[in-house]
Amino acid sequence: MEAGRTALITGGSGRLGAEFARQLAARGLHLCLVARRFAPLQDLCQHLQQTYGVHVEGLALDLAQAGAADELHAETRLRGLAVDVLIHAAGRSLAGDFLDLDERQEERMLLLQVLEMTRLLRRYGRDMAEQGGGHILLLSSLAAFQATPGWASYAAAKSYVQSLGEALAYELRAQQIIVSILAAGAMQQSRGLMPSRRNLLTVEEVVQQSLQALDKGVPVIAPGKSRRASDLARRLVSGRLMPAMAQLLTKSTVTRH
Ligand SMILES: NC(=O)c1ccc[n+]([C@@H]2O[C@H](COP(=O)([O-])OP(=O)(O)OC[C@H]3O[C@@H](n4cnc5c(N)ncnc54)[C@H](OP(=O)(O)O)[C@@H]3O)[C@@H](O)[C@H]2O)c1
Repeated sequence: MEAGRTALITGGSGRLGAEFARQLAARGLHLCLVARRFAPLQDLCQHLQQTYGVHVEGLALDLAQAGAADELHAETRLRGLAVDVLIHAAGRSLAGDFLDLDERQEERMLLLQVLEMTRLLRRYGRDMAEQGGGHILLLSSLAAFQATPGWASYAAAKSYVQSLGEALAYELRAQQIIVSILAAGAMQQSRGLMPSRRNLLTVEEVVQQSLQALDKGVPVIAPGKSRRASDLARRLVSGRLMPAMAQLLTKSTVTRH
C-alpha cells in the first residue's frame, strides 16, 4: 500500500471509513470515498486533499440496492481509477427482536453486507488479479463469532463476511491479493452505553493496527482485548449457553455495532 496507489473506501465518511481515509492519505495514497450522502463526503475530500496533497474524490451511491456493486464498478472505470486497495467499511448494525424486525431494513442490511459486498469483491478482485495484486479489507465484528440473540441477522451477516473473507484470504494469495478482515469490537467512540471505556481502543488505534496487519497480510485482525475476552468466554461457557450469554452482554453493554 505504497504512496501513489489508489484506495476505494466504502463508508468513507463513517467513523472507521474516514479514519482509514485519513491514515491512507497520510501515506500518500489517492482515494475514492463512497457513501450515500455527498455533503459530508465532499467536505472530507477537500480536507484530505488540502492536508495531504493527494487526489481524493467522492462518490455518492447507495450500496444497499441490487446492482449497486456493478454501478460502483462501472463508475470507477469511467473515472479511470485503477483500484489497488478496497476497504469495505459501509455498514450499519441492526438490532431488535427477530420477529418484529423491519424486513425492508433487514433486506438492505443483507444487500449491503452480503450480496453486493460479494459482488464488489469479485469485480475488484478480478481487476486486482489483472493488475498483478492488491489489498482488500473487510469489516466484520466480534458478533461474527457467536450467535447473538437480539442482533440475530446482523451477527449472521457478519459471520458471512468473516467466513468469506477468511476463505478469500487463502484463495486469492495466488493472485497476490491480500485479504484481511477486521473483527472490530466496541471502541471508545462507539455509540451506545458501555460500562467502561477505559480499556477500549480509539478508532485511530484500531485503524492504525488494522493497516499494519493488512501490510503484513494478517488475515484476521481483532485489535484490543475484546477478541481474547470473547474467545475465553466461548471456551468457558458451554455452546448451549453461549447465545444466552451473548444476549446478556449485548443488552448490558448496548453498542450499536
Ligand atoms: N464502530 C464500531 O464500534 C464497530 C464495531 C464492530 C463492527 N463495525 C463495523 O464497521 C463498519 C463501519 O462502522 P462505522 O462505525 O464506521 O459506521 P458509521 O460511522 O455508521 O459509518 C457508516 C458509513 O457507511 C456509509 N453507509 C451506510 N449505509 C450505506 C449505504 N447503503 N450505501 C453506501 N454507504 C453507506 C455511511 O454514510 P451515509 O450514511 O452517507 O451513506 C458512513 O460513511 C460497519 O460494517 C460496522 O458494522 C463497527
